[in-house]
Amino acid sequence: MSIIRVHDKEFDLYIPQDQIERAIKKVADQLNRDMAGKNPLFLVVLNGAFMFAAELFKHLEIECEISFVKLSSYLGTSSTHVVRELIGLDHSVHGRNIILVEDIVDTGLTLRYTIDKLIKLEANEVKIATMLFKPKAFKYDYEVDYVGLEIPNDFIIGYGLDYNEHARNLPDIYKVIS
Ligand code: IMP
Repeated sequence: MSIIRVHDKEFDLYIPQDQIERAIKKVADQLNRDMAGKNPLFLVVLNGAFMFAAELFKHLEIECEISFVKLSSYLGTSSTHVVRELIGLDHSVHGRNIILVEDIVDTGLTLRYTIDKLIKLEANEVKIATMLFKPKAFKYDYEVDYVGLEIPNDFIIGYGLDYNEHARNLPDIYKVIS
């Protein structure tokens, strides 16, 4: 039985763990190749990216630093269109090569906000590594540099992604069905 219920909604199994982790390994291979010798600072966007980040970092062989920021733009199953910064930067980003680590890029608003902030703080370059990307929902024109998997505009949970703070612990990704 692959259908589960979370709060008031039903979800069906969508992307199994082994497929997610193959996609993450592909992203890690690209980063190992592109960022060697650049000592990047990875900024993990909490909460959703924690599981992606843990799996990604296990495969990174380059010299790097890792830090965390906490942002929120989602309430329930849709974007509020307002980004709230809940835990800010505790690292100097001046002159650094930054990789923002996201669980999913949907409209792109959350990262637009963060990229603008990092550019103002004079980061040398800002790139994005995301486990999932919804290209049909994306509303901006910045580059989404490293993408695990592209998906349609469905609401999903699992592997770090939540529905009102539930289901982040699921090792597979599920898609809403009703
Ligand atoms: P954006 O600002 O519209 O790109 O939304 C990005 C954030 O919204 C992600 O980091 C997630 O926290 C959340 N989000 C977007 N789509 C989903 C989804 O399908 N399920 C759960 N959270 C999502």
